[in-house]
Amino acid sequence: MDFLRVTGENKLNGKVKISGAKNSALVLLALSILSKNIFTIQNIPNVADIKTFAKLLQNLGATTNLYNHECIIDSSLINETKAIYDIVRKMRASILVLGPLLARFRKCEVSLPGGCAIGSRPVDFHLKAMELLGANIAIKGGYIIASAKNGLKGNTIPFDKISVTGTSNAILAASLAKGKSVILNAAREPEVVQLCEVLKNCGIHIDGIGSSEISILGSDGELLNLQKTEVIPDRIEAGTYLIAGGITNSKITLQNVITKHLENIILKLEEIGFKLDYKITKEISNITINPTKKLNSFKIITKEYPGFPTDMQAQFMALATQCDGVSLIEENLFENRFMHVNELKRLGAKITTSRNLAQIQGCTKLVGADVMATDLRASSALVLASLKAQGTSNIHRIYHLDRGYEELENKLNALGANILRLKS
Ligand code: EPZ
Repeated sequence: MDFLRVTGENKLNGKVKISGAKNSALVLLALSILSKNIFTIQNIPNVADIKTFAKLLQNLGATTNLYNHECIIDSSLINETKAIYDIVRKMRASILVLGPLLARFRKCEVSLPGGCAIGSRPVDFHLKAMELLGANIAIKGGYIIASAKNGLKGNTIPFDKISVTGTSNAILAASLAKGKSVILNAAREPEVVQLCEVLKNCGIHIDGIGSSEISILGSDGELLNLQKTEVIPDRIEAGTYLIAGGITNSKITLQNVITKHLENIILKLEEIGFKLDYKITKEISNITINPTKKLNSFKIITKEYPGFPTDMQAQFMALATQCDGVSLIEENLFENRFMHVNELKRLGAKITTSRNLAQIQGCTKLVGADVMATDLRASSALVLASLKAQGTSNIHRIYHLDRGYEELENKLNALGANILRLKS
């Protein structure tokens, strides 16, 4: 089993290129099921979740050629509509095949994804959306059995809670339905926006892109002529590297970012006291974080986009250990997303939690220790804290990290960190 050995207290400097967004690439891979032609996706991050999704598509009968940050998918040969437990259990985002399979084949079986470390992760909103589009849904033997013998029909789909992949699944299904669908309380994440833009580019009529009300005129079963697409930069990977610069009080430049997607993260870092060089733009650009003398404590309340992202909560908690005073974090999206607290405490952090609130004592000396990753973003927080810690830390179960960060240790070492990937 791989683990990372991090020797802390190095200053960082230089430039790091941000990879494509994992959570956008996953939705686009699901979209390929609806393609009439060969679909090419570029700027795909080289991470485990992408390989898992490609394997899922192959298991359905598609061919996927994943090489050098590009994936070429031919889904014309799909002859299977069952997404099996053994693959789905490895990655919850597999639920994203439900909408496209149902829309194209009018039936499918998808294993229930089950929970994960950060929460029970139900899929009831996904199932309700499919039923509103005319599907019959049954749960049998741990599988979702979905059918729509007359095809899907447009409808209004209200979401009780904002759900990122729930919204994407509804959009994917509605794009092949007969007639118009309106999604209410839709997620506004950049990953959802990119899906809508790709659909619009191939002729699907979509209004309200980026808003909480999205209307889609479906193609009535007609497969889509998808154009070659480049995945947007990963805003969470970018935020993670900004914290790497911040926690080591270094000057580093991130290339290949969309600062508009990072706005909330940038404003929080400026509130803490960092000076950043950037322009807020929806175009691809750079951003530089500079050292600062004093780090102010802060409060974070996680919310759906454009609110403060839950996927950056753990990373900011690591930074909070170095700020002047007590910082507060309120986690509102997942019921168990403080798994990194006990591990940060092994490095010397002084954190108390009560339900979804964490209180972090600042100006804390961190000292290297053995720690264990528990989920994707928690593991990146442990890397960040160990960059600051005195001495050496060993971070175990880094398969969590490999799911969503491309070559994290290589990118950090190129900036001046001292990280070894070893086998235990
Ligand atoms: C997406 O997960 C992301 N994953 C997560 O990123 C991210 O943390 C999350 O959105 C929130 O931003 C992908 O895009 C692949 P939700 P998703 O549905 O869609 C509840 C990472 O680090 N809910 O927006 O699964 C749910 O329990 C991952 O890359 C239901 O109750 O999250 C949660 O409390 C971790 N029923 C809330 O809604 C449902 O049917 C938001 O979840 C669906 C969700």
